[in-house]
Amino acid sequence: MNSKKICVFGGSGFVGRHLAARLVNRGYKLRAPTRHPQRHRELELLPGLELVSGDIHDPQSLQEQLAGCDAVINLVGILHEYSGQSFRKVHVELPAKIIDACRATGIKRLLHMSALHADAAKGPSQYLFTKGEGEQQVLAASDLAVTVLKPSIIFGPDDNFYNQFAGMLKLSPVLPLACPNSRFAPVYVDDVARAFETALENDATIGQSYELCGPRVYTLKEIVEDIARMLGKKRRVIGLSDSLAQLQAKIFGMLPVKIFTMDNYLSLQVDSVCSCNGLEALGITPHSVEGIMTAHFADDPYDVLRQAARRG
Ligand SMILES: NC(=O)c1ccc[n+]([C@@H]2O[C@H](COP(=O)([O-])OP(=O)(O)OC[C@H]3O[C@@H](n4cnc5c(N)ncnc54)[C@H](OP(=O)(O)O)[C@@H]3O)[C@@H](O)[C@H]2O)c1
Repeated sequence: MNSKKICVFGGSGFVGRHLAARLVNRGYKLRAPTRHPQRHRELELLPGLELVSGDIHDPQSLQEQLAGCDAVINLVGILHEYSGQSFRKVHVELPAKIIDACRATGIKRLLHMSALHADAAKGPSQYLFTKGEGEQQVLAASDLAVTVLKPSIIFGPDDNFYNQFAGMLKLSPVLPLACPNSRFAPVYVDDVARAFETALENDATIGQSYELCGPRVYTLKEIVEDIARMLGKKRRVIGLSDSLAQLQAKIFGMLPVKIFTMDNYLSLQVDSVCSCNGLEALGITPHSVEGIMTAHFADDPYDVLRQAARRG
């Protein structure tokens, strides 16, 4: 058991919630800054977790958040830009401010969430390019004890990716799919959380970055077809040509709520598969998508209600 206090930026997000649950179980005390404390009240049920509000982009406020902590985990990231929230501000400027705040408060240990194929030289999209810049800054902070984790797409019962496609498949018998041949090695959210915990507790991970992948590689079309199968729905998934995919990204990118943009399209031009799976190096056996998500989709309580309603 552990008595250290960790500040988890992005602790209210999908990965953050799983990581927080795992770390409090190990006895860590956590501080989780959020812009929306009212929305994340359930996190306060975790023993030893302190949910705090404050502007983490303000250097003074950032230092206040870090006071009394022994280590920092930065999970903050975005897939889409909105006004006041640019890739550069979130992926490049924020990590730089966190590094400065660690130095100012004397915190040495920093774990940073990047993304697979984040690349400050060749990142094809603003997402991957700025994630690469952020990661580069963290790894260059040689006076700190840093570890960087770089996952492929992350899945879990409460994810956005699988559940968003599931939502679309429930609504329509036909799904036109951009970039159907893009490849992924989906990694389970609890394996990612375990990777953070292992890195936190193992000094051999200092100065290292780890790619994180699941056990199997799928094309995007295979993923969507598998989701339809897991839902028990007969669906037609139609792969779009490259020019139609770009058109879809341009049109969807103009919607007020973003689900697919040109930047997402550009990210999908590199296969999200590992050259060397860091989970193995960290001693973690990756869970399969089928093992986790089949049960999740089969257990959809609304489907049971819908079927009951249809039966009258
Ligand atoms: N999910 C994936 O498949 C995947 C794959 C590869 C890499 N990653 C990376 O993993 C990290 C966590 O992903 P996730 O899926 O857990 O993300 P998420 O569910 O969208 O959560 C994002 C978190 O970041 C915070 N945040 C977002 N924008 C912010 C801003 N402008 N200022 C301050 N805080 C902000 C949110 O806090 P509030 O409570 O304040 O909203 C939230 O806690 C990200 O860095 C992401 O790029 C994710």
